[in-house]
Amino acid sequence: MVTEKLDIRLRNPIPIKDSSLHVTKLKKLITTIEEHPDHLLGLSNRHVVSARQFTTESVLQLIRLAANYESFPLFLSRPLAGKILITAFYEPSTRTRLSFESAWQQLGGDIMSITDPATTGMAKGESLEDIAEMFNNYCDVVVLRDTHEDSVYRMINSLIVPIVNAGNGIDEHPTQALADMYAIFRWRPILTRLNLPEEQKIKVGIIGNPSQMRTVRSLLLFFSLFSYMVKEIVIINPDNDIFSEGQREELESSGLYITKTGSITERLRELDVIYINSIAWIGDTYERLTSDLKLSKDSPLKPDSIILHPLARGKELDVSLDKTPHNWYFIQARGALFLRMALLNSLLKTP
Ligand code: CP
Repeated sequence: MVTEKLDIRLRNPIPIKDSSLHVTKLKKLITTIEEHPDHLLGLSNRHVVSARQFTTESVLQLIRLAANYESFPLFLSRPLAGKILITAFYEPSTRTRLSFESAWQQLGGDIMSITDPATTGMAKGESLEDIAEMFNNYCDVVVLRDTHEDSVYRMINSLIVPIVNAGNGIDEHPTQALADMYAIFRWRPILTRLNLPEEQKIKVGIIGNPSQMRTVRSLLLFFSLFSYMVKEIVIINPDNDIFSEGQREELESSGLYITKTGSITERLRELDVIYINSIAWIGDTYERLTSDLKLSKDSPLKPDSIILHPLARGKELDVSLDKTPHNWYFIQARGALFLRMALLNSLLKTP
């Protein structure tokens, strides 16, 4: 009786009406980016700590590979069979840990997962360097999330297998930002063209704090690799002190034109991509910054604009947007799986 009242149909994985358009765009993305797999060989057997390690070409080739994985799941092979991933998450996560683990398993590998440091020697005061020394014996890749910025660097001192930074305090979250770039390029595959006509360039709004949000920090670094496609980056934040020392200068020296407004509505109508986040890890806990800046279906958005959010969301991103064409945050989260598959496979490829 109860089930008759429920809508028990499975939802389309793409949360907008025309999912065939998405398939077409993914295939367009694959054909627009010329294949140059040698740029992925540069990632082989490397640690992934910062967006600074990537080049325009390595990002494009990762995105092309991710789009292939997403478009043709039936053709997946199992190149990581017999390989082991350790995910060490010393800070909460839904998407990053599970998508890394799903990505590894879809490529045939096996996983060992630590979600509570108190179950490891850390509870007895064991150093990260010593734990990393042990990881060398047990796995082929480590994915680490830690509250402290320096933890990933301390582990690198001992590791002989690659480590991927899955969020280190307020510093960086490079694979999240790669997933953000994947969402943007699949939205408009033409943006991958280096000789982009002026009228195709986009305006990006970032509702957040560039100095204290690791996702924003990494995303801005990736935008600096693709400054040719960005007309303007508008930081939406009422505070004055929102860049870390030298951050704005570094980004502007790459060719990015950055402006700032304190008003959530002032520039929305002009923006093609709006990235919103309110969470930042401050000290020992999460804080919600800029959470009084909110988007809902009633916000004055450009009709064909998209909204990205690394999630988890709070009140800043109203659920009324979920069923609108502006909702690209679920597509962004889904795409992270395929992007991480592309990255993990590239890390273990032998040149
Ligand atoms: N985007 C992101 O880092 O989400 P999680 O905290 O759930 O991993």
